[in-house]
Amino acid sequence: MSQTPRHLLTLLDLTAAEARRLVQRAIELKRMVAEGVTYLPLAQRTLAMVFEKSSTRTRVSFEVGMAQFGGHALFLSPRDTQLGRGEPIEDSARVLSRMVDAVMLRTFDHDRIERFAAHSQVPVINGLTDRFHPCQLLADMQTYQEHRGSIQGRKVTFVGDGNNMCHSYINAARLFDFQLCIACPPGFDPDEDVLAGARDHCTLVRDPRVAAQGADLVVTDVWASMGQESEQNERAAVFADYCVDSKVMAFAKPDVLFMHCLPAHRGDEVSADVIDGPLSVVWDEACNRLHAQKALLELLIVGEPG
Ligand code: CP
Ligand code: NVA
Repeated sequence: MSQTPRHLLTLLDLTAAEARRLVQRAIELKRMVAEGVTYLPLAQRTLAMVFEKSSTRTRVSFEVGMAQFGGHALFLSPRDTQLGRGEPIEDSARVLSRMVDAVMLRTFDHDRIERFAAHSQVPVINGLTDRFHPCQLLADMQTYQEHRGSIQGRKVTFVGDGNNMCHSYINAARLFDFQLCIACPPGFDPDEDVLAGARDHCTLVRDPRVAAQGADLVVTDVWASMGQESEQNERAAVFADYCVDSKVMAFAKPDVLFMHCLPAHRGDEVSADVIDGPLSVVWDEACNRLHAQKALLELLIVGEPG
């Protein structure tokens, strides 16, 4: 097993060329499943999935992806591992990485996954932290490519909280070379240090309608992320004008797409007619988590496909 494993803690762990190849590979792997091709590059391999927060899509897509590749995935939660009883994250990394071939971690502070990775002998994949959600972006980029072709030079609008999804869209704008217009309420802008490297790809405005003007893709996310449940009511008041509804979508291009990483709250960050309407590709987006992450697992565990 490699002593210098390759991790995916943020999208910027990939080069632009690798990120584009991953999306193409995800599309190819999806076609192989549809055609019933047997491809078992991870036979005898195991992925540990450590979830310190809830998940539906991330858990199921990684578990199914490992099964389709002939491998195995282990679901580990703090509720029933020593991690939940205070075993240091560094020790957990040392132990797990001596038994499995890769680890996916969903946690709170981004620092926690960095510490885990620093002590892991195998690749570590960020399955969401408070700061980033890179796997979701791989699926989103695949979904755009499938529906509309290259996203390079397109305009993407992110409406809502400057959170982990917004941060990952900022990184994606750099890697995939699109223009990102972000509309957040004052006090909820994305972090300066994430924006710093992406100034030529990002614009910040306050009005969602201004942000959506001429957009090829409109994206939003929850107003209160996991860990912010106690702020739900306060945030609902602050974000009241940040619902992506048909009035906001009307400012975008006629062939605009709508995405949301899910879970969604209809009537809050998105109206039901938008998320359930003809411009929405959220179900393809959710499904593509499986294929995009298979491409990622293949890259990190096996290396580039032959
Ligand atoms: N979008 C996403 O990561 O969903 P889950 O929280 O269900 O994994
Ligand atoms: N921003 C959300 C994304 C959920 C997939 C959260 O962190 O809860």
